[in-house]
Amino acid sequence: MDSFVIEGGTRLRGTIRINGSKNAALPIMSAALLANGPCNLQDVPTLSDIQHQMTLLRELGCTVDRQPDGHVKLEVTDEKNSHARYDLVRKMRASICVLGPLLAKRKYARVSMPGGCAIGDRPVDIHLRGLEALGAVIDLDGGDIIARADKLVGTEIFLGGNFGSTVLGTANVMSAATLAQGTTIIESAACEPEVVDLANFLIAMGAKITGHGSPRITIEGVKELHGANHQVIPDRIEAGTFMVASAITNGEVHLQNVRLDHLMAATDKLRAIGVIVEKDNGGATIASIRRLEATSITTQPHPGFPTDLQAQFMALLSIADGNSVITEKIYPDRFLHVAELSRLGAQLHKEGSTVIIHGVKRLIGAPVMASDLRASAALVLAGMAAKGTTTVMRVYHIDRGYEKIELRLNSLGANITRKAQTELEL
Ligand code: EPU
Repeated sequence: MDSFVIEGGTRLRGTIRINGSKNAALPIMSAALLANGPCNLQDVPTLSDIQHQMTLLRELGCTVDRQPDGHVKLEVTDEKNSHARYDLVRKMRASICVLGPLLAKRKYARVSMPGGCAIGDRPVDIHLRGLEALGAVIDLDGGDIIARADKLVGTEIFLGGNFGSTVLGTANVMSAATLAQGTTIIESAACEPEVVDLANFLIAMGAKITGHGSPRITIEGVKELHGANHQVIPDRIEAGTFMVASAITNGEVHLQNVRLDHLMAATDKLRAIGVIVEKDNGGATIASIRRLEATSITTQPHPGFPTDLQAQFMALLSIADGNSVITEKIYPDRFLHVAELSRLGAQLHKEGSTVIIHGVKRLIGAPVMASDLRASAALVLAGMAAKGTTTVMRVYHIDRGYEKIELRLNSLGANITRKAQTELEL
């Protein structure tokens, strides 16, 4: 298990290109299971989650050819195996997004029920409710979801839940509905840019979808879908993380391949606390020249503030001037970073799903433990701002969602070394 040794206190400066979005690529790759013919995807990031998805798709009879430049070619050549095994699903919860495509195309899917994870329970009841509304019969057997349908029939489906809309639930139901008979209307659909990107890919495959990006998506079923080419959108969470990296180090970083229109809530908060965010040709510059101010943040479904940037902003606000408040409305338990940031000297007080942050002037380096993907990113950010040395252990979490993050941050002036860590040291 690798760890990062971070020498804090350097300002980040320079230019970095944002990679294609992990959370867009995963459901898009799954949607290739719907196509008769090859699909070519550009800008698929090199991440362990993507690697798991490629392994899963190979098991499901898809040939997968990946080029070093981020081009991935997918083509289904054998539809016999429709079983996503627990061994693969437990490594990556997002494997659930093969459920809708398998069911619609092969009339049968067996997908291991994803368990909870470090950020909470993460049920899939709404995915199943949506597929049942389309006519699927769903059973549970040996920890697997078994979905069957001789044919799917379009209908009106409400996909809202106690925590708002569901991103992968919308992806599953929308993908399945493309091959259903008649018209499906999804109400309370997720509006995230990743859902829009998936819809655009499905449309390129011949699907008839309108309203994507709004809470009401309409899908007119078609008989079949063909292969298509698609460029994956830039990763808004990677971009947001680099924005915080620039702000927390009082740096000046230019991001290429960034969509600020996907980052309105985060950009608004950065500007509110004193960070300069300037849009320019195909990119944006993020700079900070003074101590930042406190603010309050509540995570919400898009276009609200993204839960996937909550931990990174907590790191940033822990050195802002004054008291900030962060409330988590998507995953009320997504606070494993609180105890670790406190080890670096952050003054954090958690009350239920709210954390009050009393900004300190400086964080002090210490050994800390990564717990999930975004919490790990927050610890790296805090470590770059801290005085002295911070060791972030178990960085395999960060490798799931950020490609070579230490090298990319080092190219901007950070001082991060990856060390292979023995069990004894843990
Ligand atoms: N929910 C239910 N029932 C369901 C589905 C969701 O109650 O059937 C609840 C969840 O427990 C949560 C809320 O609804 O409280 C929203 O969950 P959602 O389904 O939208 O999450 P997801 O689709 O499983 C994706 C991202 C997450 C991101 C969330 C929210 C991917 C692969 N994952 O998950 O990304 O946090 O949307 O925006 O797209 C990450 O990248 O670090 C990450 C966790």
